Amino acid sequence: MSTQTKFLLTEADLPKFWYNINADSPVAPAPVLHPQTMEPVTPDFLSVLFPMELILQEVSTERYIEIPEEVREIYKLWRPTPLLRARALEKALDTPAHIYYKHEGVSPCGSHKPNTAVAQAFFNKIGGTKALTTETGAGQWGSALALACNFFDLPVEVYMVKVSYNQKPYRRVMMETYGATVFASPTDRTQFGRSVLAEDPDSPGSLGIAISEAVEVAATSGGAKKYSLGSVLNHVLTHQSVIGEEALKQMDMAGEYPDVVIGCVGGGSNFGGIAYPFLRQNLLEGKRTRFVAVEPTATPTLTKGVYTYDYGDTARMAPIVKMYTLGHGFVPPPIHAGGLRYHGMAPSICALYNAGYIEAVAVPQLATFDAAVQFARTEGIIPAPETAHAIRTTIDEALDAKEKGEKRIILFNLSGHGNFDMSSYQAYFNYELKDYAYPAEAIKAAMADLPKVPELA
Ligand SMILES: Cc1ncc(COP(=O)(O)O)c(C=O)c1O
Repeated sequence: MSTQTKFLLTEADLPKFWYNINADSPVAPAPVLHPQTMEPVTPDFLSVLFPMELILQEVSTERYIEIPEEVREIYKLWRPTPLLRARALEKALDTPAHIYYKHEGVSPCGSHKPNTAVAQAFFNKIGGTKALTTETGAGQWGSALALACNFFDLPVEVYMVKVSYNQKPYRRVMMETYGATVFASPTDRTQFGRSVLAEDPDSPGSLGIAISEAVEVAATSGGAKKYSLGSVLNHVLTHQSVIGEEALKQMDMAGEYPDVVIGCVGGGSNFGGIAYPFLRQNLLEGKRTRFVAVEPTATPTLTKGVYTYDYGDTARMAPIVKMYTLGHGFVPPPIHAGGLRYHGMAPSICALYNAGYIEAVAVPQLATFDAAVQFARTEGIIPAPETAHAIRTTIDEALDAKEKGEKRIILFNLSGHGNFDMSSYQAYFNYELKDYAYPAEAIKAAMADLPKVPELA
């Protein structure tokens, strides 16, 4: 019987193409609308924020998009990432399930985020962009873009949600080490930030607010600065498909095929990244893998949100998209998974979830940290709090398989390590963490503020 734990690819196996779900999805996402006119957006509108190459990828229905050589060269610093079998966790759970995880925490800044950051910095650089602006929640995305922009000699301004800026000072220093300029959002640098502060000087910030600030700076820069988003958009999920493409080959090396693929969801990019290449095998090859997106009960976008048109940001400057949403005014409770605190979700994931191709579950914070600690004590890796949501559900699947006496093959995406999240772990050990379920009334109230999109009115 094989006792292999790591399944490693060589640099020669690094994928040459990203996979675009829009080529095969049986449920095309609804058109993206202009925030003022509510008409489908034109490339002209999007070009204020994004370089043309990324706009073309955003609307592409090509199945495969070539990964430029310059991007592959940088990917080689940490890719292909390892696939591991969590043998010690399986033993601790005494489960007949086989648990595999793709370890994206081995990237220089510790998460999957550089897979798209490097691509976005590259396409901006060759498109003539002079500087990038972005937001960050937990700091993972900001550090990834800081790393990537540094490689392409592109200045970057990062608007970091204030509660995370205070909770995770080392993430800020990491971004500065790579050369980024970091601000605690809401700031007084933008009109929108000033308006938020006027209403609530102690605002903890939110991803929606930080996005508005970063978008405002780019949109008012006369074309010099462009905006970069770390999740939600289709081109981001496409770039993340390198994870699943590698995992397909590695599961093959392991001689198994997943019955279930699990990922946590903030805007949906690490989940889409690992799931979509396997979903393609369902759609085109008749495989029957299940896909489970895991979110916190504090930000239950898929499980409790409403599937409708909403703004992508709080200030209503970003395009309107059809997605599951908690309302663009959503200011989440300060839970310790900063990267999962977004009010919306990638439109392709929403469309696929709505049509039943993807499942979703919400897990509470304390049970999530229980799972994180169990994983650290068996497999050795301390996961990011975001990732721990996927681990919670993986353990639940493995225990369910045990109860049913099934040999279930489980694959989850270890989207990042938690080495910068020790204050969250400390709060857990000090019994300071609380469970929080976002109230249904708050979601209902937020729906009154949705854009009045003509065909829905
Ligand atoms: C480690 C980690 N995992 C997951 C996420 C969630 O983002 P997404 O849904 O785009 O993968 C984040 C976001 O910051 C993150 O830092």
